[in-house]
Order: sequence, then structure tokens, then C-alpha cells
Amino acid sequence: MKLCFATNNAHKLEEIQDLLGDSFSLTTLREIGCEEEIPETHDTIPENSFEKAEYIWKNYGINCFADDSGLEVDTLNGAPGVHSAYYAGPQRDADDNMDLLLENLKGHENLAARFICVITLVLDGEYRQFEGAIEGKISMEKRGSHGFGYNPVFIPEGHDRTFAEMTMQEKSELSHRGRAFEKLKQYLISL
Ligand code: IMP
Repeated sequence: MKLCFATNNAHKLEEIQDLLGDSFSLTTLREIGCEEEIPETHDTIPENSFEKAEYIWKNYGINCFADDSGLEVDTLNGAPGVHSAYYAGPQRDADDNMDLLLENLKGHENLAARFICVITLVLDGEYRQFEGAIEGKISMEKRGSHGFGYNPVFIPEGHDRTFAEMTMQEKSELSHRGRAFEKLKQYLISL
């Protein structure tokens, strides 16, 4: 089955290609001729995920899926949440974002956090969503170098290493995205 994955993030594409396996051939946005920024105008992760898939379906008429994800920290009332990518500003810099997060968490004892991911699949105009989450806590020092975003400061529950200290495969088995994509995969296989 041929599907477009509506992302410009090469790390994600690699993670998902790995997870979905050979039975699905993923097309990139560039391959379908979509070079523009896809709008993300909503305040929640499910709505932004829907908006991205809808944009591709309405403008390009191609079966696709889009994901939206973010980090929610309990003591910060769910921030950075839907604003995770640009928490510290429009430069969308992972180090700046983590530095601001650690600064905002200084003096807080509760470091509980979770990553969440919502995927919207559109097949011939029919929409369906799949969710995944992983509970954990924030590490007050950055550790590890794998992957992207907040990986160096997130320790998944039941582990003592951060996501950035895990291999891509270890992370995919645990992660919010891995869990949501596993649900997507099971659904696609059942068709
Ligand atoms: P997106 O909506 O999936 O692009 O994610 C938005 C932002 O959330 C990313 O730019 C990262 O800052 C953060 N994020 C989402 N998933 C992950 C992850 O697996 N590891 C680290 N950061 C993530």
C-alpha cells in the first residue's frame, strides 16, 4: 500500500519506516510536490494532527497520515504540550527548548511528564485517529545524543536512561509514537 506520511522530519520518517516494515511504501511530502509549510493552527494535538492530514487530502487528493505529538509536564499544567516544537521561540531549537524547560522546572519536586502522539489517517476521504502515550519523568540534566527534540531530558517509566541514551529500536518499542503507529499498523494490516 502506498501512503504519504505528512512530515518533514527525517528522524520521524526513519523511525516510522522502520516500524511499518516493507509492506507499506511511504511517500514523502516532497515526492507529492508539497513544499509549503502545512498549517497547524489549533490548540490541541488531536486537532493539529487532523488538520495536517485534511490539508494533504484536500489539496493533493492523496491517501496519507499525519502525526502530531508533544511533551506534557504535570507541574507546568501540561506545557509545553502543543507548543513543544517552539517552546523557547520560533527558532524551534531543541537545546533552547530543553534549557527553558529545565529553567521552568527549577525548584519543582514533581517531574512527572508524558509524551503523547495522535495520528490521523485519511483513506479515500475517511478519517480515523490513533493515540499513543508514554509516562515518565524529566531528567534535570541532558543525557545522551540519539534522536531529536526532548529525548535527552525524558526518562520513560521503569527505566533509568533517557530516550536519547536508547537505540532507535528500544525507543520505538516504548515511545508514544511507536505505540500510536503500532495501532495504525494493526489497522492497516486488517484492511
Ligand atoms: P511533532 O508534532 O511530532 O512534530 O512534535 C512536536 C515537538 O514535540 C517536536 O518538535 C519535539 O520537540 C517534541 N517531540 C515529539 N516527539 C518527540 C520525541 O519522540 N522525542 C523528543 N521530542 C519529541
